[in-house]
Amino acid sequence: MGCVVSRIAEDVVAQIRERTDIVEVIGRHVQLKRAGASFKGLCPFHEEKTPSFNVNPLRGFFHCFGCHTSGDVIAFLMQVEGRAFGEVIEDLGRRAGVEVLREGGSSPDAQQARERAEQRSERERARELNARVAVLYARCLQAPIGEPARAYLAERGIDGATAELFQIGYAPPAGTLLAQKLPEAGVALELAERLGLVVRRRHGDGFRDRFWNRIIFPVVGPGDEVLGFGGRLIAPSGASSERRADAGPKYLNTPETVLYRKGEVLYGMAQAATGIRQGGQSLLVEGNFDVIQLFQHGFRSAVAPMGTALTVAQVRLLGRFAPAVVAIFDGDDAGRAAALKSVRALLEGRLEAKIGVVPAGEDPDSLLRKGGRAALQRVLDDAVPAVDYLIDELRKTLDDSIPGRARLLEQVAPIIGLLPSRVAQDLYVDRLSFAARLERGVVLRAVREAAGGANASGPRGAASSRTAVAAATLGARSEVGRAGPQGGAGAAVPADPAADAPESSELELLKLLLGHPLLLPRARQAGLAILLTNEQLRATYAAAEAAPRDGSGRIDVVELLRTVPVTMRDAVAVAASAKDYLADGDWTKAFDDCVASMAARRADRILGAVKGRIARAEQQRMGSGEAAAQDKRRLIRLTGAQSRIRRAREQHQAETVWALIHELVEVEQEIHETQ
Ligand code: CTP
Ligand code: MN
Repeated sequence: MGCVVSRIAEDVVAQIRERTDIVEVIGRHVQLKRAGASFKGLCPFHEEKTPSFNVNPLRGFFHCFGCHTSGDVIAFLMQVEGRAFGEVIEDLGRRAGVEVLREGGSSPDAQQARERAEQRSERERARELNARVAVLYARCLQAPIGEPARAYLAERGIDGATAELFQIGYAPPAGTLLAQKLPEAGVALELAERLGLVVRRRHGDGFRDRFWNRIIFPVVGPGDEVLGFGGRLIAPSGASSERRADAGPKYLNTPETVLYRKGEVLYGMAQAATGIRQGGQSLLVEGNFDVIQLFQHGFRSAVAPMGTALTVAQVRLLGRFAPAVVAIFDGDDAGRAAALKSVRALLEGRLEAKIGVVPAGEDPDSLLRKGGRAALQRVLDDAVPAVDYLIDELRKTLDDSIPGRARLLEQVAPIIGLLPSRVAQDLYVDRLSFAARLERGVVLRAVREAAGGANASGPRGAASSRTAVAAATLGARSEVGRAGPQGGAGAAVPADPAADAPESSELELLKLLLGHPLLLPRARQAGLAILLTNEQLRATYAAAEAAPRDGSGRIDVVELLRTVPVTMRDAVAVAASAKDYLADGDWTKAFDDCVASMAARRADRILGAVKGRIARAEQQRMGSGEAAAQDKRRLIRLTGAQSRIRRAREQHQAETVWALIHELVEVEQEIHETQ
């Protein structure tokens, strides 16, 4: 993908950024509330209970004051959806109506256009085709031919609005819908074949559809892209198995394609994403109809693996939306077996997992239809932590013999070792030693050994894998709050105790520069680079000078956030979000006043340093030496400068202040050299 990145023209990226509503896009993943000119929500990159995640639509960036992740809408989607730059650009470009051309292809004739189309990634074309196919199926459901499918959905209690929301469709019995319609629309069936939509006829030439006589469930990813399809045979649930046999399996899904990896997708993800974030918890069920029925009953946070045993990748996907999950399984043997198998993936994917079990003979779909919301709520209320469930279930199936007890230990100890909390681990060690009637020490050793093994292979040391990912994306997260002042050339004077926290006038300055880039030349004239004593702030100022400008000539905050020291990101975000831009003209005065105030403070500090040296010299009875005499002359010079700065500040004589700054720095340099 790396080469693709560089080939997308920069102005196209800028155009996409400008035309994309960052609040709308991020709002699909994070529930945002307006807060002044910005929007606030719970950060998707770290776990938190109070919102520190901010989105600023005016300057087109997001920033989290908790984990210091920041960037533009493109960076957000790349991180949240785990997609490559090129993919995100193409996706946003399509939505914003900006054509993403690769550099090098500018002539607009048909030949070129075709070549360009060839160049677009297979994934991109795949997504386009899948979206188009979903529409075709959905239209069939609404058309006269869709009558049997509509009747079937009605029979299963799915209403029209829900069907529409889940983009449910219908593949008619003939099995020629796509094989006919796609070529008519100029789509090569080879692509459709690679996407598992059509298959080559076994006898004779050409293609026929993979799905026919089925209800179609598009599988939509968190970025609203149609990844693939699930198809359920339309047959009354009581239909004979014979009839099913020649019609194919009850459920048929898209095979592995560039977009659809069965171990990584979850049915209902797009529809549930918001609900999961809002509720802080997802519901994991087994079937497509369960997901839909739950949604219709107001449980808008359910997803289902598409007929696969739950994988860690699927759990991690869920973890991007909320840290907790209730996995709901059928009460029969198959359901219990699936539950046992899922526990490991749930904990390995670092979710706070509970297991809920519906009464035998039911699934969430049937339970809701019979008992309504309340019946399912009871299942949720009765859900037990995954490890408790595991111990209880295994104890039921394993006998009390020595091999049975050993197996209980062998199966549960590694799972306990997966728990992020030591306290929880210890408590479960107690439980397990009680359940298996084994000495606590034996259980503890088994758990530690298992955990040690996991340590070597996984990021157990990190607070959570999500945090680890965020840290990796940030690159420098561990620096946060640690990188203190680094007294460089501009900080020759004894360290200011508060040097690592920029003073308010310095932050004010940053705000002004971000709001009014025309002040940058003035800042240069004033000698701001030498005036700033805070190393981090100096780096920020340098980055601001170097940063590109956005469409309105202001400093590009996203670029700035990327290039400033991590410790300065919060300050930059605050400064860039300041909505009280001063009226025209006033900001020059405000800027000058900031500079004067900093200069005055600087004078005070140098003066203090010189006084200190003189006092020390006197203590050591060297007060009459040449060095001391020089310091006394400096004292006089500085005192004069100090009062002249004060006067110049009162009279708004900016240039005078600037000249005095240079004088201060001269003295400072002397002190430094004679130290
Ligand atoms: N599934 C699948 N492929 C199969 C069987 C099942 O993908 N061959 C998936 C489907 O997503 C389905 C889920 O597993 O929704 C549950 O399947 P099943 O246990 O057969 O569900 P039922 O409740 O019997 O299905 P339905 O409600 O549609 O009758
Ligand atoms: Mn069912």
